[in-house]
Amino acid sequence: MTGVDSVYPFGLAPAPGRQRRIAVIAGDGIGPEVVAQALRVVEPLGVPLDIEHFPWSAEHYLKTKETLPTGALVRLRDEFDAIFFGALGDPRVPDGVVARDVLLGLRFGLDLYINLRPVQLLDERLCPVKGKTRRDVNFWVLRENTEGPYVQMGGSFKRDTPDEVAISEDLNTRRGVERIIRAAYTLAKVPHGSAHPTPRVCMVDKANALPHAHGLWQRTFRVVAAEHREVQSSHLFVDVAAMEFVRTPERFDVVVTSNLFGDILTDLGAAICGGLGVAASGNIHPGRCSLFEPVHGSAPDIAGKGLANPLAAFLTLAMLYDHLGEAHCGDRLRKAVEQVVLAGRVTRDLGGTLSTSECGDAVLAELATATRN
Ligand SMILES: NC(=O)c1ccc[n+]([C@@H]2O[C@H](COP(=O)([O-])OP(=O)(O)OC[C@H]3O[C@@H](n4cnc5c(N)ncnc54)[C@H](O)[C@@H]3O)[C@@H](O)[C@H]2O)c1
Repeated sequence: MTGVDSVYPFGLAPAPGRQRRIAVIAGDGIGPEVVAQALRVVEPLGVPLDIEHFPWSAEHYLKTKETLPTGALVRLRDEFDAIFFGALGDPRVPDGVVARDVLLGLRFGLDLYINLRPVQLLDERLCPVKGKTRRDVNFWVLRENTEGPYVQMGGSFKRDTPDEVAISEDLNTRRGVERIIRAAYTLAKVPHGSAHPTPRVCMVDKANALPHAHGLWQRTFRVVAAEHREVQSSHLFVDVAAMEFVRTPERFDVVVTSNLFGDILTDLGAAICGGLGVAASGNIHPGRCSLFEPVHGSAPDIAGKGLANPLAAFLTLAMLYDHLGEAHCGDRLRKAVEQVVLAGRVTRDLGGTLSTSECGDAVLAELATATRN
């Protein structure tokens, strides 16, 4: 939401007089490093949060064999307003069981069907595409988050033989497709600093090669688009969309797509904004406890070295505040991050020299300056 205060349409109902409860799952690798930095702003932002830390990580799994314990899902759903998540993934747990049980478990178990990922350039110097401005790179991707091949239906036969057969089903339901497309229109219709006078939704699929699954996306999109004539609706096949993310990002306001394509396209989206160090995301069920996480993983190659960029975690926390109905905190935090980036007070991945904690210091200092002014 570059340059304007945010209008976030998926948030919780107000809870006057009650402190919001936040579950923190810092996870593995750089997850705890960036989460610790982001949480430093909670006090200065002045909206007290009731925070509880949960240990689910590779380390915890290796000690206890526990991933997501029984009852955790219900407890998070019923007792918490939001989850702030770092990253999961550790070479000591090669089959990824912790990430699968905890992260996918929460996405599916809490029915967090919207994966909302801003593609918003904070500083022209960070964009690797020649001549693109902040105005040009300013859109949202809504990735369907509970279906597609990620449901892990399928199997393998004659494993580890030359005759091996492996099948991963791509699950798409009318209900699942329709609700994410509707969410895209809801988002497109709130002001978010777009350069376009008419809001735009672009649906991305591969119906030419996947006529069954993505034929459903096409048919559903046509029905929902027809109900929103005030929005400019368009369609791209995913291969062309990948090219257009780089060539003409200015054509997009809101992009809606499937789980797999959204996963891939949003790394490309991160790349045109400066990389994974500044890419935030929300896993959202409107009006319910939702999970907010940086797009990046646990980055074992840089973990423990003070090299991780914490800005994606700060921007993620800003999205969490939006969800709580505290968009003024989200906006203040986003502005502080913008200022830090514009001043070049950043980590090495963005061309700076700061360590993870020094970059955190810079955000805190910026918040303090903004408060004084
Ligand atoms: N949501 C998640 O928890 C999540 C997402 C992606 C990957 N993973 C897991 O993380 C592990 C590592 O995966 P990967 O290497 O493919 O992806 P990754 O995002 O962890 O790292 C990719 C590259 O980007 C760099 N990078 C990532 N975040 C950075 C940051 N904040 N600051 C500076 N540099 C950063 C890393 O050093 C690495 O070179 C794997 O176990 C993977 O399964 C978890």
